[in-house]
Amino acid sequence: MLLSLSLLVLPVLSAAQTISGPEDCLQAGNYQLCQNLWGRDTGVGSQSSTLVSQSDTTNSLSWSTTWNWTNGPDNVKSYANIESTVAKGVQLQNVTSAPTTWTWSYQSRSDGIRANVAYDIWTGVPSVGTPASQNSSYEIMIWLSSLGGIEPIGDSPVTTNVSLAGYTWDIWRGPNQNWEVLSFVVKDVADVTNFNVDLNEFFEYLIANQVVAPTQYIQSIQAGTEAFTGSAVLVTSNYSVAVNPN
Ligand SMILES: *[C@@H]1O[C@H](CO)[C@@H](O)[C@H](O)[C@H]1NC(C)=O
Ligand SMILES: *[C@@H]1O[C@H](CO)[C@@H](O)[C@H](O)[C@H]1NC(C)=O
Ligand SMILES: *[C@@H]1O[C@H](CO)[C@@H](O)[C@H](O)[C@H]1NC(C)=O
Ligand SMILES: *[C@@H]1O[C@H](CO)[C@@H](O)[C@H](O)[C@H]1NC(C)=O
Ligand SMILES: *[C@@H]1O[C@H](CO)[C@@H](O)[C@H](O)[C@H]1NC(C)=O
Repeated sequence: MLLSLSLLVLPVLSAAQTISGPEDCLQAGNYQLCQNLWGRDTGVGSQSSTLVSQSDTTNSLSWSTTWNWTNGPDNVKSYANIESTVAKGVQLQNVTSAPTTWTWSYQSRSDGIRANVAYDIWTGVPSVGTPASQNSSYEIMIWLSSLGGIEPIGDSPVTTNVSLAGYTWDIWRGPNQNWEVLSFVVKDVADVTNFNVDLNEFFEYLIANQVVAPTQYIQSIQAGTEAFTGSAVLVTSNYSVAVNPN
């Protein structure tokens, strides 16, 4: 009896998979987990990321990343992230909703870490585009946490106290290579650790304020952490994103 019970339970438990190479990625249902240690040469350290579990039924997953970086306090070392392989290829004007859930916490962290927890949403003129490529027009960031005094690209907020999706945000704007970075930084709360919103509120705001053209295509939605310095274990217990077109 005991044996058959454990056999019933086993299929829903899958062994966690860990990646540690600088450009390593793992496929998981409608998502890809990538290490993306793109700025590692500006410091010294290491990082690994783990796919904990994934469910096709709820289009969601759980993952974690463990990092330890020193030197280059103003340089991003990495953006370990989850990227949807399906929530893309839709013009902003044709999005009816883009529901997302992100529940996360620091399982541990050293004193004074410099890091954010943020979405990175890429848009452009072509329907497809690799993030940070010649096809990128805008990089729309949504910062749910920023520790250690780090700031987005731009000199200072261009708009403050914008109410969207139940939170108040400052918006930063600045150039990066061939695209423009638009960063929504949450204020009045230290960390938004249980984010459950419709990303279309951000897209509609940017269209209504004529910042971004409605014809821009969503090319990628990523969610992860930009690590600068310190050490931490960041756990995402649940993440999900979808783009529903009209
Ligand atoms: C994770 O989020 C998805 C989408 O919101 C939801 O359907 C699912 O129940 C959540 N899973 C857990 C374990 O909370
Ligand atoms: C981070 O790396 C430094 C230098 O190698 C080491 O002394 C420290 O113990 C590491 N911290 C953690 C939490 O692994
Ligand atoms: C997208 O929206 C535009 C403007 O409302 C509309 O003309 C077009 O038909 C829509 N495209 C799709 C695929 O629904
Ligand atoms: C850029 O877009 C074109 C379509 O216009 C596509 O064929 C190409 O693969 C894209 N390249 C990158 C790097 O995203
Ligand atoms: C934004 O809100 C803060 C309080 O959170 C307030 O001190 C500040 O004056 C507001 N700024 C503007 C431009 O309304």
